[in-house]
Amino acid sequence: MDVLEAIFTRRCIRKFTGEQVREEDLKTILKAGFSAPSAHNYRPQHFVVVREKSTLEAIAGFHPYGKMLPGAGCGIIVCGDSEKQNATGFLVEDCSASIQNMLLAAHGLGLGAVWCGLYPHDKLTEHMRELLKLPETVIPIGVIALGHKDQVREAPDRYEEEKVHLEEW
Ligand SMILES: Cc1cc2nc3c(=O)[nH]c(=O)nc-3n(C[C@H](O)[C@H](O)[C@H](O)COP(=O)(O)O)c2cc1C
Repeated sequence: MDVLEAIFTRRCIRKFTGEQVREEDLKTILKAGFSAPSAHNYRPQHFVVVREKSTLEAIAGFHPYGKMLPGAGCGIIVCGDSEKQNATGFLVEDCSASIQNMLLAAHGLGLGAVWCGLYPHDKLTEHMRELLKLPETVIPIGVIALGHKDQVREAPDRYEEEKVHLEEW
Protein backbone atom coordinates (compact mmCIF):
# COMPACT_ATOMS: atom_id res chain seq x y z
CA MET A 1 0.00 0.00 0.00
CA ASP A 2 1.22 3.45 -0.93
CA VAL A 3 2.15 5.61 2.10
CA LEU A 4 -0.45 8.30 1.36
CA GLU A 5 -3.16 5.70 0.85
CA ALA A 6 -2.21 4.18 4.22
CA ILE A 7 -2.39 7.57 5.95
CA PHE A 8 -5.72 8.48 4.37
CA THR A 9 -7.49 5.13 4.92
CA ARG A 10 -6.27 4.15 8.41
CA ARG A 11 -8.91 3.95 11.13
CA CYS A 12 -8.80 2.63 14.66
CA ILE A 13 -10.03 -0.95 14.75
CA ARG A 14 -11.60 -2.20 17.98
CA LYS A 15 -13.15 -5.50 16.84
CA PHE A 16 -10.87 -8.42 16.11
CA THR A 17 -11.25 -12.01 14.93
CA GLY A 18 -8.85 -13.36 17.57
CA GLU A 19 -6.53 -14.89 14.98
CA GLN A 20 -2.90 -14.43 16.02
CA VAL A 21 -0.66 -11.93 14.26
CA ARG A 22 2.22 -13.70 12.50
CA GLU A 23 5.68 -13.21 14.05
CA GLU A 24 6.95 -11.91 10.71
CA ASP A 25 4.26 -9.19 10.59
CA LEU A 26 4.88 -8.28 14.24
CA LYS A 27 8.58 -7.86 13.49
CA THR A 28 7.78 -5.57 10.53
CA ILE A 29 5.50 -3.47 12.74
CA LEU A 30 8.15 -3.19 15.46
CA LYS A 31 10.69 -2.21 12.82
CA ALA A 32 8.32 0.58 11.74
CA GLY A 33 8.17 1.70 15.37
CA PHE A 34 11.95 1.81 15.63
CA SER A 35 12.11 3.77 12.35
CA ALA A 36 10.32 6.78 13.86
CA PRO A 37 12.15 10.07 14.29
CA SER A 38 13.25 11.05 17.80
CA ALA A 39 14.54 14.29 19.28
CA HIS A 40 18.37 14.38 19.03
CA ASN A 41 18.07 10.82 17.67
CA TYR A 42 18.24 9.64 21.33
CA ARG A 43 15.79 6.81 20.52
CA PRO A 44 14.32 6.27 24.00
CA GLN A 45 11.54 3.98 22.67
CA HIS A 46 11.10 0.45 24.05
CA PHE A 47 8.26 -1.88 23.07
CA VAL A 48 6.82 -4.54 25.38
CA VAL A 49 5.00 -7.16 23.31
CA VAL A 50 2.26 -8.99 25.18
CA ARG A 51 0.41 -11.98 23.77
CA GLU A 52 -0.38 -13.64 27.10
CA LYS A 53 -4.17 -13.54 27.49
CA SER A 54 -4.12 -13.09 31.26
CA THR A 55 -1.85 -10.02 30.91
CA LEU A 56 -4.07 -8.53 28.20
CA GLU A 57 -7.07 -9.16 30.45
CA ALA A 58 -5.30 -7.48 33.35
CA ILE A 59 -4.70 -4.36 31.20
CA ALA A 60 -8.34 -4.38 30.08
CA GLY A 61 -9.24 -4.63 33.76
CA PHE A 62 -7.70 -1.30 34.68
CA HIS A 63 -7.85 0.58 31.35
CA PRO A 64 -11.36 2.03 30.89
CA TYR A 65 -10.92 2.30 27.10
CA GLY A 66 -8.75 -0.75 26.53
CA LYS A 67 -11.39 -3.45 26.74
CA MET A 68 -10.63 -4.66 23.19
CA LEU A 69 -7.10 -5.86 24.11
CA PRO A 70 -7.82 -9.51 24.98
CA GLY A 71 -9.85 -9.91 21.78
CA ALA A 72 -7.06 -8.39 19.71
CA GLY A 73 -4.63 -11.07 20.83
CA CYS A 74 -1.58 -8.82 20.93
CA GLY A 75 -0.65 -5.65 22.77
CA ILE A 76 2.42 -3.48 22.21
CA ILE A 77 3.18 -1.25 25.17
CA VAL A 78 5.23 1.68 23.96
CA CYS A 79 7.56 3.02 26.63
CA GLY A 80 10.18 5.73 26.83
CA ASP A 81 13.46 5.51 28.74
CA SER A 82 13.90 8.77 30.64
CA GLU A 83 17.60 8.01 31.04
CA LYS A 84 17.93 8.27 27.25
CA GLN A 85 15.61 11.29 26.90
CA ASN A 86 15.17 13.34 30.06
CA ALA A 87 12.87 15.96 28.49
CA THR A 88 9.51 14.27 29.07
CA GLY A 89 7.78 16.26 26.34
CA PHE A 90 10.25 14.98 23.75
CA LEU A 91 10.03 11.44 25.14
CA VAL A 92 6.24 11.50 24.69
CA GLU A 93 6.59 12.87 21.16
CA ASP A 94 9.21 10.24 20.26
CA CYS A 95 6.96 7.43 21.51
CA SER A 96 3.92 8.91 19.79
CA ALA A 97 5.79 8.99 16.48
CA SER A 98 6.57 5.29 16.95
CA ILE A 99 2.94 4.52 17.75
CA GLN A 100 1.71 6.27 14.60
CA ASN A 101 4.33 4.47 12.48
CA MET A 102 3.18 1.13 13.91
CA LEU A 103 -0.51 1.90 13.33
CA LEU A 104 0.26 2.69 9.70
CA ALA A 105 2.45 -0.41 9.30
CA ALA A 106 -0.31 -2.60 10.75
CA HIS A 107 -2.82 -1.04 8.36
CA GLY A 108 -0.44 -1.50 5.41
CA LEU A 109 -0.19 -5.20 6.29
CA GLY A 110 -3.98 -5.51 6.34
CA LEU A 111 -4.13 -5.77 10.13
CA GLY A 112 -6.21 -3.75 12.58
CA ALA A 113 -4.92 -1.65 15.45
CA VAL A 114 -5.96 0.97 17.95
CA TRP A 115 -3.90 3.35 20.07
CA CYS A 116 -4.90 3.30 23.75
CA GLY A 117 -3.45 6.17 25.74
CA LEU A 118 -1.67 5.76 29.09
CA TYR A 119 0.46 8.86 29.73
CA PRO A 120 -0.26 11.33 31.37
CA HIS A 121 -2.78 9.36 33.48
CA ASP A 122 -0.82 8.46 36.63
CA LYS A 123 -3.12 5.60 37.59
CA LEU A 124 -2.80 3.93 34.19
CA THR A 125 0.96 4.36 33.98
CA GLU A 126 1.42 3.06 37.53
CA HIS A 127 -0.80 0.01 36.91
CA MET A 128 1.22 -0.71 33.78
CA ARG A 129 4.54 -0.23 35.56
CA GLU A 130 3.54 -2.75 38.21
CA LEU A 131 2.07 -5.30 35.80
CA LEU A 132 5.01 -5.30 33.39
CA LYS A 133 7.71 -4.75 36.03
CA LEU A 134 8.93 -1.61 34.27
CA PRO A 135 11.97 0.12 35.81
CA GLU A 136 11.23 3.46 37.55
CA THR A 137 13.10 5.31 34.79
CA VAL A 138 10.81 3.95 32.06
CA ILE A 139 7.51 5.71 31.25
CA PRO A 140 4.73 3.78 29.49
CA ILE A 141 3.15 6.14 26.96
CA GLY A 142 0.54 4.08 25.16
CA VAL A 143 -0.67 0.63 24.19
CA ILE A 144 -1.41 -0.62 20.70
CA ALA A 145 -4.06 -3.33 20.50
CA LEU A 146 -3.12 -5.31 17.41
CA GLY A 147 -4.90 -8.10 15.60
CA HIS A 148 -6.89 -9.25 12.61
CA LYS A 149 -9.78 -6.91 11.79
CA ASP A 150 -13.35 -7.95 12.35
CA GLN A 151 -14.81 -4.66 11.15
CA VAL A 152 -14.54 -2.40 8.16
CA ARG A 153 -14.32 1.33 8.83
CA GLU A 154 -14.52 4.01 6.19
CA ALA A 155 -12.12 6.93 6.50
CA PRO A 156 -13.68 10.38 6.28
CA ASP A 157 -11.95 13.27 4.58
CA ARG A 158 -10.69 15.32 7.53
CA TYR A 159 -9.09 18.16 5.63
CA GLU A 160 -10.18 21.38 7.38
CA GLU A 161 -9.49 24.41 5.29
CA GLU A 162 -10.32 26.80 8.17
CA LYS A 163 -7.51 25.32 10.28
CA VAL A 164 -4.86 26.06 7.69
CA HIS A 165 -3.20 29.43 8.33
CA LEU A 166 -1.06 30.91 5.61
CA GLU A 167 1.94 32.92 6.75
CA GLU A 168 0.18 34.12 9.97
CA TRP A 169 -2.72 32.96 12.18
C1 LIG B 1 -3.31 9.86 22.60
C2 LIG B 1 -4.44 8.97 22.14
C3 LIG B 1 -5.08 8.16 23.05
C4 LIG B 1 -6.11 7.32 22.64
N1 LIG B 1 -6.67 6.46 23.55
C5 LIG B 1 -7.62 5.59 23.15
C6 LIG B 1 -8.13 4.61 24.05
O1 LIG B 1 -7.73 4.54 25.21
N2 LIG B 1 -9.04 3.73 23.59
C7 LIG B 1 -9.50 3.77 22.29
O2 LIG B 1 -10.34 2.94 21.94
N3 LIG B 1 -9.04 4.68 21.39
C8 LIG B 1 -8.10 5.58 21.79
N4 LIG B 1 -7.57 6.47 20.90
C9 LIG B 1 -8.02 6.46 19.51
C10 LIG B 1 -8.94 7.65 19.17
O3 LIG B 1 -10.18 7.48 19.82
C11 LIG B 1 -9.11 7.69 17.65
O4 LIG B 1 -7.86 7.90 17.05
C12 LIG B 1 -10.07 8.79 17.22
O5 LIG B 1 -11.38 8.52 17.66
C13 LIG B 1 -10.11 8.97 15.69
O6 LIG B 1 -10.46 7.75 15.07
P1 LIG B 1 -9.52 7.03 13.97
O7 LIG B 1 -8.19 6.73 14.62
O8 LIG B 1 -10.27 5.79 13.60
O9 LIG B 1 -9.37 7.95 12.82
C14 LIG B 1 -6.53 7.32 21.29
C15 LIG B 1 -5.88 8.15 20.37
C16 LIG B 1 -4.84 8.94 20.78
C17 LIG B 1 -4.11 9.80 19.75
